[in-house]
Amino acid sequence: MCGIVGYVGPRSAREVVVEGLRRLEYRGYDSAGVAIVADGRIAAEKKAGKLLNLEMALAENPLPESGTGIGHTRWATHGGPTDSNAHPHLSEDGRVAVVHNGIIENFAELRAELTNEGITFRSETDTEVAAQLLGVELAKGADLAEAMHTVANRLEGAFTLVAADAQTPGRVIAARRNSPLVVGLGEGENFLASDVAAFIEHTREALELGQDSVVEITDHEVKVTDFTGQPAEATRFHVDWDLSAAEKGGFDWFMRKEIYEQPKAVADTLLGRHTDDGALTLDEIRISETELRNIAKIIIIAAGTSFYAGMVAKYAIEHWCRVPCEVELASEFRYRDPIVGPTTLVVAISQSGETADTLMAIRHAREQHARVLAICNTNGSTIPRESDAVIYTHAGPEIGVASTKGFTTQLAACYLLGLYLAQVKGTMYGDEIHAVVKELESLPPLMQQVLDNAQPVLDLAARLVDQPSVLFLGRHVGYPVALEGALKLKEIAYLHAEGFAAGELKHGPIAIIEPGMPVFVVVPPRGRDQLHDKVISNIQEIRARGARPIAIAEADDATVEEFSTTVIRLPKVSTILQPLVAVIPLQLFACELATVLGHDVDQPRNLAKSVTVE
Ligand code: F6R
Repeated sequence: MCGIVGYVGPRSAREVVVEGLRRLEYRGYDSAGVAIVADGRIAAEKKAGKLLNLEMALAENPLPESGTGIGHTRWATHGGPTDSNAHPHLSEDGRVAVVHNGIIENFAELRAELTNEGITFRSETDTEVAAQLLGVELAKGADLAEAMHTVANRLEGAFTLVAADAQTPGRVIAARRNSPLVVGLGEGENFLASDVAAFIEHTREALELGQDSVVEITDHEVKVTDFTGQPAEATRFHVDWDLSAAEKGGFDWFMRKEIYEQPKAVADTLLGRHTDDGALTLDEIRISETELRNIAKIIIIAAGTSFYAGMVAKYAIEHWCRVPCEVELASEFRYRDPIVGPTTLVVAISQSGETADTLMAIRHAREQHARVLAICNTNGSTIPRESDAVIYTHAGPEIGVASTKGFTTQLAACYLLGLYLAQVKGTMYGDEIHAVVKELESLPPLMQQVLDNAQPVLDLAARLVDQPSVLFLGRHVGYPVALEGALKLKEIAYLHAEGFAAGELKHGPIAIIEPGMPVFVVVPPRGRDQLHDKVISNIQEIRARGARPIAIAEADDATVEEFSTTVIRLPKVSTILQPLVAVIPLQLFACELATVLGHDVDQPRNLAKSVTVE
């Protein structure tokens, strides 16, 4: 939520900052602004609406050239998305400009205090409090770093603040607590940003900062301290993807590009994590095998799409490892006094690594002495940093707000984790593990097959464009896939969509079925159990009420034809791995329907990627 950029160097700060904001716009797009330091003053422009509005305003009223600047793209929390609430916010004397991501929880008290001191506020935001406090400290004679240390200590809540001072050109300062910030290390220039996408065009060398850090950049220096001003650690890392990954590459939407990247993303996530004979080698799990053998319970914590990946993981982990596994919404976890202890393994799944609900949940788990393992896509993010171990998914940057390759790579990582735990606990034989690993390895080409044969799904989206409501049904691992299909449609097509466990249909949801209503049904492969036949019965029940069942079923399953109005075919895959292929038609359907409806697929209304507030 909210994208932040800071720059010091020889280029035009306005250009670097606006370009960086374009790459971060997926984090929030209610309003945007930029401030630069030139001729001993701050020059700023900010506009409600998408970045384009800011760019038009800058074209009309160009800012002076400068090598020092900051910028912001906003997802509104305090105060609506108006020009005056857009960032940057300036101190009353106009000396300092501030952009902010997060929520300052004690802003009302601070605002009252500053108002009593005679300061006039120009916006409704919590951020302006930080700008005014910095202004007060600077006016007292503090330098920029001293002022930032003082202010950071006064603020409660989650924040990344980035500030520039008119009287110290060539310097930008930032502070972070529970909110993302990375440093980009250039040659004769340095960058600050919410994530590396903002500066990947200029450098792939970056610094990851600890909690409660203050960082000051000039064109040749990066100085990291804690909130008391003492030197603090920062970890250097190299970003292993380049600019092309952060561009649309000929696709109309990032989301569509990311859907099509899934075979490679899953293959990359599996790469190097097992030997030729199928033994798992997850060296990154820095929890000893003895400890893992003693794990009595696993709790998976996540939000949204990542939660649905966790639901699939539960089926796999319990089946393979015979350890009780719960899946819990991160936002609920710590408020219900969960039973967690040293023999609990908490698995936090987060594409961004910054979701505040998930972060707070793992902190709670660690306080109860649980071991925490993160499954995450973002290097340098907070959740892996605060976990005992991490399995990185190698999806590359996910820029479309609706998660797609994030989901399938999380599934791949969860399967690897499940098999690894089974190996350590001895609940599966080596050749059984090998067989699953081999099948997993065969999945990326099968995912590609689904993409290559997507035309029927795209046609279907065009035909169903007038539908007010779409249902999704599944059983077993098909149930979370159904939930994910419904979530995708809500997020980007703004349609009423609901996912149900197919077996629950008769316990209530069947009442909402209307003649003509599209109902997607994820059909399990025909196996030895009765799961498949039960789902076929569900399709018949829907059809009997005049709805339009759309079956997502494996290639040679003729049983679905009689009662389905449309059949989308999947390659043959065993039940537990089927989500990797079954979700693809649902992602494509949502993307296409939203496109036909004329929505902005990559920047759906009210949403933002990386939800960094609780
Ligand atoms: C759905 C979506 C969200 C995220 C959720 C968790 O398309 O993008 O539901 O899945 O906000 O985000 P992460 O995985 O970054 O913790």
